[in-house]
Amino acid sequence: MNILPVNRTTIKKAAGLLRAGGLVAFPTETVYGLGGDATNDLAVASIFSAKGRPQFNPLIVHVHDIEMAKKFVAWNDLAEKLSEKFSPGPLTFILPRLSGSEISLLASAGGDTVGIRIPAHEVARELLKEAGIPIAAPSANRSGRVSPTAARHVYEELGDVLPIILDGGECEVGIESTVVDLSGEEIILLRPGIITREQIERSLGICISTLNDVSGELKSPGLLASHYAPSLPVRINIDMPNPGEGLLAFGDNVPVGAKATLNLSPNGDLKEAAARLFSGLRELDKAEEYSAIAVMPIPDTGIGIAINDRLRRAEKR
Ligand code: TXA
Ligand code: MG
Repeated sequence: MNILPVNRTTIKKAAGLLRAGGLVAFPTETVYGLGGDATNDLAVASIFSAKGRPQFNPLIVHVHDIEMAKKFVAWNDLAEKLSEKFSPGPLTFILPRLSGSEISLLASAGGDTVGIRIPAHEVARELLKEAGIPIAAPSANRSGRVSPTAARHVYEELGDVLPIILDGGECEVGIESTVVDLSGEEIILLRPGIITREQIERSLGICISTLNDVSGELKSPGLLASHYAPSLPVRINIDMPNPGEGLLAFGDNVPVGAKATLNLSPNGDLKEAAARLFSGLRELDKAEEYSAIAVMPIPDTGIGIAINDRLRRAEKR
């Protein structure tokens, strides 16, 4: 079994494997990551091949602290300001690569920016400290599938190709980090997450754009509509499911006659719903009795914006 409990020995083993160019799955506060040495082209390439990614989307590079980030990217005032408030945490900054940056160009998908994140999860931090290298890590799922929020999900996705899955329990946040592009004139929220647009705007004291506001080229190729798909069709904003559909409910207003097969949060707590979203989709997807997954309406406020973003992608697959 390659799911390992976390202790000094297993952290050391995982760090050694990473330094040698191998891949390790590890927990973060958002979702589990599939990590490889971000400065090693071959390691980064093997991340893409393990995931079966059809194209080279840029990967998030995880670092232990700001000092480490500054070795690879042009840190700026905006990043500094946001870090004071949100680092370490579930926020990814897109920043210009430093010339001569050791980060593999493949992790930047050939571009001139790097996605940098300082994770808060203790296991991720220990691993980064022990390995002493930046770790490129997309979510540890096969391409096009929902992100794993528990070690057993990673095992289901990639258990056959991964020598080490560090088990840090269930992820607290449950959806991927907020991604904000700080590399250009215009600051753009590329992916909503638990840290909201409003929080970022408040902390920077300026308005920022979202992808919807920005026309033209797709800045973040990893944000393809089909990124988060279970195998079953997903229907969202459903007040009453069709017979045969599995229901992903929210709140206590479950329609009469519908069997709430899984409730993201009976109390209507959006944070709890976010933490359960991917495991809920995964569970209904596995139960072979359903024709589709019907999801009740989720309020489009706060972290509900990120939940609805992921659900719309799942629906569009
Ligand atoms: O919570 C998370 O962010 C998790 C954990 C493991 O840290 N990671 C994750 O990585 O979700 P991934 O590869 O599944 O998603 C990375 C997102 C993609 O949408 C990608 O396009 C965007 O970040 N991204 C990364 N680097 C970028 C860059 N240089 N420019 C634009 N977008 C970038
Ligand atoms: Mg992903």
